[in-house]
Amino acid sequence: MKLDDIPRDETGSSNRSDNRPFHDVLNTHLSRRTVLTGSLAVAGSTFMAANPAMAQLGGLLGGGLINFTPIAIADGSGPNANVSSDYQFQVLIPWGDPLEPSGPAFKFPPNADDQALQIGGGHDGMTFFPAPPLVSNEVLNGLSIPNNSKGMLAINHEFITNFALLGKDVPENIQEVRTSQHAHGVAVVAIERIGGVWQQVESPNARRIHVNSPVRFSGPVAGSEYIQTPNGNVPLGTVNNCANGETPWGTYLTCEENFNGYFGTADENGNPVLDTTWEPTEAQQRYGFSEFGFAYFWHKYDRRFNLADPDYRNEENRFGWIVEIDPHDGTQVPVKRTALGRFKHEGATFASGDGNRAVVYMGDDERFDYIYKYVSSDDWEVMRANGISPLDEGTLYVARFNDDGTGEWLPLTMDVPALAARFDNQAELLTFTRIAADIVGATPMDRPEWSSIGPDGQVYFTLTNNTRREPGQENAANPLAPNPDGHIIRFDDGNRTGTSFSWDIFLFAADTRDTDHVFTDPDGLFIDKDGRVFIETDGGQPNDLNNQLLVTDVNNPGNIRRLFTGPAGCEITGFCMPPDRRTAFINVQHPGDGDPTVSNFPAPFDGVTQPRDATIVLTRKNGGIIGS
Ligand code: FEO
Ligand code: CA
Ligand code: CA
Repeated sequence: MKLDDIPRDETGSSNRSDNRPFHDVLNTHLSRRTVLTGSLAVAGSTFMAANPAMAQLGGLLGGGLINFTPIAIADGSGPNANVSSDYQFQVLIPWGDPLEPSGPAFKFPPNADDQALQIGGGHDGMTFFPAPPLVSNEVLNGLSIPNNSKGMLAINHEFITNFALLGKDVPENIQEVRTSQHAHGVAVVAIERIGGVWQQVESPNARRIHVNSPVRFSGPVAGSEYIQTPNGNVPLGTVNNCANGETPWGTYLTCEENFNGYFGTADENGNPVLDTTWEPTEAQQRYGFSEFGFAYFWHKYDRRFNLADPDYRNEENRFGWIVEIDPHDGTQVPVKRTALGRFKHEGATFASGDGNRAVVYMGDDERFDYIYKYVSSDDWEVMRANGISPLDEGTLYVARFNDDGTGEWLPLTMDVPALAARFDNQAELLTFTRIAADIVGATPMDRPEWSSIGPDGQVYFTLTNNTRREPGQENAANPLAPNPDGHIIRFDDGNRTGTSFSWDIFLFAADTRDTDHVFTDPDGLFIDKDGRVFIETDGGQPNDLNNQLLVTDVNNPGNIRRLFTGPAGCEITGFCMPPDRRTAFINVQHPGDGDPTVSNFPAPFDGVTQPRDATIVLTRKNGGIIGS
């Protein structure tokens, strides 16, 4: 293959397993679809009737959850961003701005040293960690006033192409590779609202974590042979940090998604970089490694990323994990929590389950890949008091969705005979989680992206699309073949620590076509405590719409309003709010796809100025709750 022939689609399925447990579900899903989504309004009322808690919630709230004026379809295109007339927005921390005000200013293209001290590219999942409460509860007799104007923003820098970063497709030296590596990873930024405007401030805990930052491993895979390289290099870096999570003990979880794309073996002419042949192993195939990767060509100048280099064998197994970062300690070494499995991690939604155990819901974003949950072995507060991370000792499960609306969590442990027959130990099993999940018969999904938990406790997952699901490959949870527009599934996981659940489909994006609230490719997802569902899209939208942020209602998915549309060529992703919910931070990722003739965002369109990933600060003009 020559460079021009490289498939740019990052998500070609690498699941060769034959987990299609429902070969005969067509009639089932057709009847389900009629009941649930023949009309979205019917779907909502049907669900509420079947769920008394939801009906009660709906009654309490009345119909006034979402009242803003939506952006009309005709206003949602073009090179600039648009927002509802009831809202306003501010741009914060564009790619290349200094991490702290005293740092190096943006210039294009950046150099490696500056980029390590600047905001990265490809803004994605993020969490706002408020500064300590303004008033302590001792003073106010138990009442605490959170800080809504100051805190640490931990933000993922998922990816930026060589073209957008360097102005060329192939780096020409190790310094340009380092620039790219430094533009990936995570930023922890100190921000404060001063005079009504959010801005960066100096902090000893502001930091960039990138592909060459020290990291350490913890949990069952730490110290195992599967992450040792023959040359003994120390573990470094995190990459393709997609969605995110947070723990109740105040740490940030960043999720490594398409890590396979940064490894390779060949130059742009298809010739091996090293004088050696390379054929992918079974495991490398299952994780999608190839000779070009996503054409970053780091492997031309950095041997660590050359799959054919015998000195760096297993380096690729050091990626694909969830990484825990302390946003309030700039000296902490990020920890890769291996008990949570290795796959293309999209997000990590934390909940406390029965017995106060830590539960983390996670998606593996690839066509025909799976939904997982992790359950800690004990009360997470007790574990922490004993010096044990709740994310190090526990059980990883993968989901099987039955066509009758029930589901099972299948444990991925050496107690399962079929897994004991395949793997030598739990470390090997977790390093190759996808293969273990194939073996136990998990349900192949339509690209699980973000998850969020509604006020009723149900877990919602976006399934962004799957154009390669063919007739005959349907299962009840993924009933459309093909599924170009995506859907949102939800499940009731009871006390969260058990092995059974019940599920339903919240909405099909296809059912919004031919309406004012049309959207496709749901990706980012956040549900607030009142039941507003924030949906962010990543994919070609109908009607010339750019990617968008919409708001709907857990009780009434037919009530969808368009709150924000990004500039042409971008994806909308990332969502977090201070405790008062009067501000929302979202991200515009890869505006113009890095091409200034498409968009110059956040600069006004002039066809020349470099577009830059950026965070958007959204506020309601009347000071109201975001989404109202
Ligand atoms: Fe990084 Fe699956 O989105
Ligand atoms: Ca995503
Ligand atoms: Ca996506």
